[in-house]
Amino acid sequence: MEVVILAAGQGKRMRSVLPKVLQPLAGKPLLAHVLASARALSPRRICVVYGHGGEAVRVRFDAADIVWAEQRAQLGTGHAVRQALPHLRGGGRTLVLFGDVPLIGASTLARLAAAADRARLALLTVELDDPSGYGRILRDADGRVTRIVEDKDATEDERRVREINTGILIAPTDGLRDWLGRIGNGNAQGEYYLTDIVGLAVEAGVEVVTASPDDVVETLGVNSKAQLAAVERAYQARAARKLLDDGVTLADPARFDLRGELVCGCDVEIDINCVFEGRVELGDGVSIGAHCVLRDVRIGAGSRVAPFSHLDGAEMGAACVVGPYARVRPGTALGDGVHVGNFVEIKNSKIAAQSKANHLAYVGDADVGARVNIGAGVITCNYDGVNKYRTEIGDDVFIGSDTQLVAPVRVGRGATLGAGTTLTRDAPPEQLTVSRIRQQSYAGWARPVKKV
Ligand code: UD1
Ligand code: CA
Repeated sequence: MEVVILAAGQGKRMRSVLPKVLQPLAGKPLLAHVLASARALSPRRICVVYGHGGEAVRVRFDAADIVWAEQRAQLGTGHAVRQALPHLRGGGRTLVLFGDVPLIGASTLARLAAAADRARLALLTVELDDPSGYGRILRDADGRVTRIVEDKDATEDERRVREINTGILIAPTDGLRDWLGRIGNGNAQGEYYLTDIVGLAVEAGVEVVTASPDDVVETLGVNSKAQLAAVERAYQARAARKLLDDGVTLADPARFDLRGELVCGCDVEIDINCVFEGRVELGDGVSIGAHCVLRDVRIGAGSRVAPFSHLDGAEMGAACVVGPYARVRPGTALGDGVHVGNFVEIKNSKIAAQSKANHLAYVGDADVGARVNIGAGVITCNYDGVNKYRTEIGDDVFIGSDTQLVAPVRVGRGATLGAGTTLTRDAPPEQLTVSRIRQQSYAGWARPVKKV
């Protein structure tokens, strides 16, 4: 099978400089969703018909399995598919998809392909209570499809037909080439209609069959920001439903956003307004508090992320407690039972089991041992304005509050750093290191008084 994706629409109603098929749905461009479903069918080739703003689309989706066909003027869907014909090999079948109908699923397409078999023309259709605006499927007395009539060309009677054309179809490629060469534009819109191939197929004795999608939302098109938002909600509702079916507890499925892939163990709980991006893996019994953003993270069993935390590019062991208001940045690996508290930022650091940084700290480019206590206000000074350096902290170290560790620097195992220390040289193991001017009190000292 070969695939043609129509993506030449300007998308004027989006009122955006971004081409329509690059508008994001669930964190990915609309076209990426369509491509993913097309690729699930392992097609021999995918031809994307592009037009306005096409260069940006080509750059974004440059891939070996895609060929590009430019449609310079928008003369209709039939004209658009015609631009792809030089890239189609023939002898096989062609699936036509729309770049702005993003929820189309691989299983629906597989069913359409089965209906099409080797030599039939298969149309994806649905019955709508309000079919206005769509092309209608016309059938003869025996229920056989005879042709499609566009809304603007239809008679009163034809407009009452509730079965509509979703636009998605599979045709024998040689037939498609022949029929597209014969369609005209003598219709209400002065366009070359792809839908006119149906009548020509019937004339040629080719059987026309229909299939319906798993879910009508799969056929929703995006022409405006309002429709984009509606399709986004439909996507999220399905994603949430799938997680619920898998046993995940969602405090509110309507306040959940998946913009990537989420893999959950048993008894995972997710509170409201969380966003998941990239690939996120949550182990058994993990709970995520309200208003968290997680991107490319792996969290071990029984760990808890408290509200308003932002985790990106991190791996966490079991039984960790992170947040509220924690920021964990890329390159971070937390061992089992690590605590990262409020207003603590961790970047590109390894923190071994049972260590704690509970309040207001910055740990960047550090290797922290096990059972380390990092006090409030501790900062690794990892950057001299030009280069970044690492801080090494051994097991069982206690770092007093408001300590600055000026990297590169090492703290030996079991060492204690007194509060307020500015550590510029290595601290030996098992000793107290403190850099602080000795505290003094001045007896008899009096505050200055205002001169008269
Ligand atoms: C089309 C169908 C209609 C169907 C409806 C479903 C035709 C003639 N009509 O109508 O039967 O019910 O979709 O939504 O096919 N495009 C191009 N180049 C063009 C014209 C369109 O690439 O010259 C692309 C658009 O970007 C869009 C898709 O083709 O992705 C559909 O085009 P659109 O103009 O929206 O078709 P409709 O008139 O809605
Ligand atoms: Ca349309």
